[in-house]
Amino acid sequence: MSVLVTGGAGFIGSHTAVVLLDHGEDIVILDNFSNSSPDMLDGIRRITGKDFKFYEGDMRDKALLDRVFTENKIESVIHFAGLKAVGESVEKPLEYYDNNINGTLCILEAMRKYGCKIMIFSSSATVYGNDNPVPFVEGMKTSATNPYGWTKVFIEHILEGVCESDKEFSAVLLRYFNPIGAHKSGLIGEKPNGIPNNIMPYIMKVAAGEYDHLNVFGDDYDTPDGTGVRDYIHVVDLANGHLSALEYARKNKGAEAVNLGTGKGTSVLELVAAVEKASDRKIPYVITARRPGDIAECYADVSKAKRVLNWQAQYDVDDMCADNARWALKQ
Ligand code: NAD
Ligand code: UD1
Repeated sequence: MSVLVTGGAGFIGSHTAVVLLDHGEDIVILDNFSNSSPDMLDGIRRITGKDFKFYEGDMRDKALLDRVFTENKIESVIHFAGLKAVGESVEKPLEYYDNNINGTLCILEAMRKYGCKIMIFSSSATVYGNDNPVPFVEGMKTSATNPYGWTKVFIEHILEGVCESDKEFSAVLLRYFNPIGAHKSGLIGEKPNGIPNNIMPYIMKVAAGEYDHLNVFGDDYDTPDGTGVRDYIHVVDLANGHLSALEYARKNKGAEAVNLGTGKGTSVLELVAAVEKASDRKIPYVITARRPGDIAECYADVSKAKRVLNWQAQYDVDDMCADNARWALKQ
């Protein structure tokens, strides 16, 4: 039996593939390389010394999904594939709804057709919207402020509906906080196309000398140093959380939303200082206006992950910055 990893050539998918292979799971990866490259697959093979089946193509290609499900015995799906740039989703809402929602429906239809009843889904802390108090707890109401965020809210509802209609189905909706870091080997990590939207890949380009400074989006938030506070989580911790979720889903039915974070907030200026320490490079920055749509603070209540999945993050921000720099500064 195999675990299908959609989007397995991407940032979080590749690290999860390593954890699954190291744990002795058989995996099959499906990716269209719309935001990744074959190098990541080589990195997974080099780190683990193991091989796996790979299908290049789009998750909305139903004939391809038929091949994947008939040529392999797919027991479960860890579903990372999706578009994830918030600003781009505002400019191209139909592309985001089609890729993320229609893509997920195609995967779910194939799962129904071939009797596969476990899905671990990549949701996001973005589903907590902009008017819940921190720390974010799974029971809070969900909403979104942009099409990307709505795709996550809608897919969570779709999976709840599937579990309601099929009592044998298990879905774990993993709400990631801010994934950064890279595998210790320096062989896999985040490689965004174009100008990075997220802070860590942007800081790395400043560290590498590609950009001369970081724009810090606002220092007038109601936070200890005025800059935005986020719950950064090491991508390897996040990957381990997927194995715990899979083990949970194999024993429990129904839909369960679970936060994957550290529960600790770090400000933009604290992150800059941590990268400077880890990389021994100066990160010049300029304070600019707030970015529209940003909230002051975002961090997780992590008690459910501990209670339900028996998982908790192991790495701190210094580890995340050191591993991230090792990867990014050799690119
Ligand atoms: P990523 O872009 O590195 O990985 C996504 C992968 O999916 C890429 O390899 C891409 O080529 C592939 N893909 C996209 N559309 C596809 C399609 N139609 N068919 C086949 N493959 C397709 O992103 P990531 O950071 O690894 O994120 C993985 C998931 O986690 C995404 O769903 C994302 O929305 C979610 N998430 C990410 C973050 C984050 O900050 N990185 C935070 C919260 C949630
Ligand atoms: C962003 C998305 C969110 C998504 C998440 C993970 C927005 C509004 N939100 O969240 O929906 O789930 O990424 O992909 O885009 N910052 C700077 N300078 C920069 C970049 C960021 O100061 O060049 C600050 C931000 O204001 C924020 C923090 O750094 O305080 C983290 O930003 P980012 O990495 O983009 O993540 P989020 O804002 O949490």
